[in-house]
Amino acid sequence: MSQHAVSQRVTARPIDAVPVPTPDPAIATIAAAPAIQLALELETELPRIEIAPEWKAQQRLWGHPFHPMCSYLASFPAALAHAFIARYSRPGDVVLDPFAGRGTTPLQATAEGRIGVGNDLNPFAHLLTASKVEPASAAEARTRLARLRLAWPAEAPTWEARAAAIQADPEGGPESVPAEVAIAFHPRTFAQLLYLRAALKLDDRIDRFLAAAITGILHGKSASYLSDLMPNTFSMAPRYVRDFAARTAFRAAERDVFECLGAKLNRLFRAPLPPGPGISLVGDARDAGARARAALRARGLPDRARLVLTSPPYLRVVKYGYYNWLRAWFLGEDPRAIDAALDDAHHRAPYLVFLRDVLRGLRPALTDDAIVVLVIGDVATDRGRAIRNGIGLAEAVWADAARPEGYRLAGLALDEVHAHRKMTKLWGNEAGRATQLDRILVLGASESGRRRAISGATLPVAWTWPPRLRAL
Ligand SMILES: C[S@@+](CC[C@H](N)C(=O)[O-])C[C@H]1O[C@@H](n2cnc3c(N)ncnc32)[C@H](O)[C@@H]1O
Repeated sequence: MSQHAVSQRVTARPIDAVPVPTPDPAIATIAAAPAIQLALELETELPRIEIAPEWKAQQRLWGHPFHPMCSYLASFPAALAHAFIARYSRPGDVVLDPFAGRGTTPLQATAEGRIGVGNDLNPFAHLLTASKVEPASAAEARTRLARLRLAWPAEAPTWEARAAAIQADPEGGPESVPAEVAIAFHPRTFAQLLYLRAALKLDDRIDRFLAAAITGILHGKSASYLSDLMPNTFSMAPRYVRDFAARTAFRAAERDVFECLGAKLNRLFRAPLPPGPGISLVGDARDAGARARAALRARGLPDRARLVLTSPPYLRVVKYGYYNWLRAWFLGEDPRAIDAALDDAHHRAPYLVFLRDVLRGLRPALTDDAIVVLVIGDVATDRGRAIRNGIGLAEAVWADAARPEGYRLAGLALDEVHAHRKMTKLWGNEAGRATQLDRILVLGASESGRRRAISGATLPVAWTWPPRLRAL
C-alpha cells in the first residue's frame, strides 16, 4: 500500500465500543418490502433517463475474476459499471471513482482499455483497488508465494511458538492481539498468518496483491477460507464472536494458508490481466480531483476524466472498519480509526454539503463533455429508527449539491432490483435500513456532457465477457 505502508501494528483493545447492532446472518429474510413499496410509490420529480438496466440480467460473477477478490459491503456489480463505462467513455479515456470501495469502477475501466482511477479514504479499499488496477502478474504472485512457502519450514518453530503464546494470552502475550482474532484460527493456521503478516510489505506491488488475496479468504464458511468462524461477507460483531465461540466450544478447522492462497491465485488468474493502466489513490473524496490529476500527470497520462462513476457512502449505514475488523487486524489497521475517518455517519444536511464539496472538487478534473454518474441508495431507517429523508436522496443531491455547482441534469435512472443482498443479510430483520432502491443520477459537467449522456443512454452495449479485442 504505497501511501499506507503498514509498519505499525495495532494493539489489542476491545472493538465492541462501536454502537452498532449485532448483525445476524442467520436471519436473511428480506423484510424490507414496505420500504421498497414506499420508495416505488414516491413520485420522482426529476426527468428519467432511459438506460436499460441490463446489468441485472447478467451472471452474479460477470466480469474480470479480480472483481470478487474480496467481499466489500455495498459494492455495485461489475456489470453495472460496464453499462456506463461502455456507453460513456472510449478506450484511452480516464474513468474516475472518488469513492472506489473495492475498485469496481476502476477495475472495469482498465478491463475495457480505459485508464481507471480509484480513490477512497479507507485504506482497506485502497489496498483492494491498488491490487486490481496495479496488480502483480500471475508469475510474480506465484513466485513470491513459492518463496514464502519454501522459507516456512525454517520459520515455523518460531511462529508456532509465538502463535501458541498469543492464543494462551492474547492481550498479555508476545504481541497484543484482540481475543476474538486469536480464537478465529487453528494454531497452525494462525502461526502461518502471523508469519505472512510480518513478511508481506504492503508498499510492494506483489506483496500487496498477496495480502489483498488473503483478505478475500480470511473467513468464510467453506474449506477455501482460513477461518470458519464467520461468513465471508463481513466480520461479525466481536462480542457475538466471543460468546458464540464460548457457547459452542468453537475450535477452528486447520487450513494451510499457502494451499488456500495458491488456490485463490488460480481463481484470480483465470483471465489475463486488465489491459488498461490504473491508479489507486488513498484520500478524501473532496480533493480526489486534484490528486487524481497530479497522479495522472506524473505518469504521463491524460489528466482529466471523461466519466466519473461512483457510489457515495450511504447515510449512517455501513461501518467499513467495524465490519472488517479481522481483515483490518491482518493489514495492521485499526478499525475504529477507519470508521472515525470515513464520511459514512452523516445526517442528511451535512451529507449534502459533503457531496457538494466533492462535486466542486471534481470539476477541474473533468473534460468539458464529462459525464458524472452517481449511484445513490435510498435508506429507510437510521440505526433502527424509520426516516423519510433517506428516501429520494438522489433528488436532494441534485438540488442541493450538483445543481449549485453548475452540473447539468441528464436524468435519473431507477434501479429497483439491484438488491444489496449482502446488506440484507448483514442486518437480517433490520434490512429495511439498508438501500433497497438505487437511484442513478446522470449529470453532465456541461451542456455537451448532458447531451452526450442523453444520446448515449440508448446505445447498445455488448455483454459478452471477455470483450472481443476489436471492441477495445
Ligand atoms: C458505497 S461505497 C462504494 C463502493 C464501490 N462502488 C464498490 O463497488 O466497491 C462508499 C465508499 O466511500 C468511502 N468513503 C467514505 N467517506 C469517504 C471520503 N470522505 N472520501 C473518500 N472515500 C470515502 C468508503 O470507504 C466506501 O468505500
